[in-house]
Amino acid sequence: MTAGRLDGRAALVTGAGSGIGLATAKRLAADGARVLTTDRAGDVDIVADVTEPGINAKLVAEAEARLGGLDIVVACAGITGMQPLDGHDDAFFDTMMAVNVTAVFRLMRDALPLLERSPHGRIILIGSVMSSFGEAGMTAYSASKHAVLGMTRSVAAEVGASGVTVNCIQPGAIDTPMTAPAFAAMPEFRQRWIDKAALGRLGQPEDIADVAAFLASDDARFMSGHGLFVDGGATQRH
Ligand SMILES: NC(=O)c1ccc[n+]([C@@H]2O[C@H](COP(=O)([O-])OP(=O)(O)OC[C@H]3O[C@@H](n4cnc5c(N)ncnc54)[C@H](O)[C@@H]3O)[C@@H](O)[C@H]2O)c1
Repeated sequence: MTAGRLDGRAALVTGAGSGIGLATAKRLAADGARVLTTDRAGDVDIVADVTEPGINAKLVAEAEARLGGLDIVVACAGITGMQPLDGHDDAFFDTMMAVNVTAVFRLMRDALPLLERSPHGRIILIGSVMSSFGEAGMTAYSASKHAVLGMTRSVAAEVGASGVTVNCIQPGAIDTPMTAPAFAAMPEFRQRWIDKAALGRLGQPEDIADVAAFLASDDARFMSGHGLFVDGGATQRH
């Protein structure tokens, strides 16, 4: 904990009902931020689907009404899934892009006016190691996560003059409800990620949340446009 380093800051966290988003909301609050949480399910302040047209603007308006402004936006809502290209259906691809890309783009766009009013505006996106690499069966997911990193770089360049920073965390395999079914069904897949990681374990949601809190803090004030691998060293091995 770094109690007090986010005192007075207002944060909006999507996907805060589970996994990385839940841990991030808790960590930001532990560091002193007032946090508005949203998800389509779970114990959150606002239950909403981020793909609903106009919802991101509503979430931002709620943040302004309840918190008096917005300093930190963390976009954790996301979905995953595998489909081979042969027979890959359009709806699967479109849904992946709607949740992982379009909703994130709209959230950044709609939150920007409030973030620009903050002396320490922060946009923190959750990409993936799949923002930089690919995997068989992961066409839709890796396309969506590459898009997240691309948006990070472009928006960082565009909004930097206003003092807002934009960064993207690229988690490796994290033990969350998202990965639990695949890890349970394919223990060898789980073990492959443990073996890949230099640190020899899966990540925990807090491993990502703690980096998000760092990016939200003044310590990260001169960092922008980055994709940060937080994967136990998995992608840096030969
Ligand atoms: N777990 C991993 O190994 C891993 C690795 C790399 C990246 N990520 C990314 O981290 C982020 C969080 O994933 P997680 O592992 O915590 O998974 P999770 O399933 O525990 O949490 C994701 C949350 O997003 C919410 N969500 C999904 N679609 C939504 C929608 N349309 N509207 C509102 N909320 C919606 C879900 O309800 C859920 O609570 C995702 O973007 C995921 O792609 C996870």
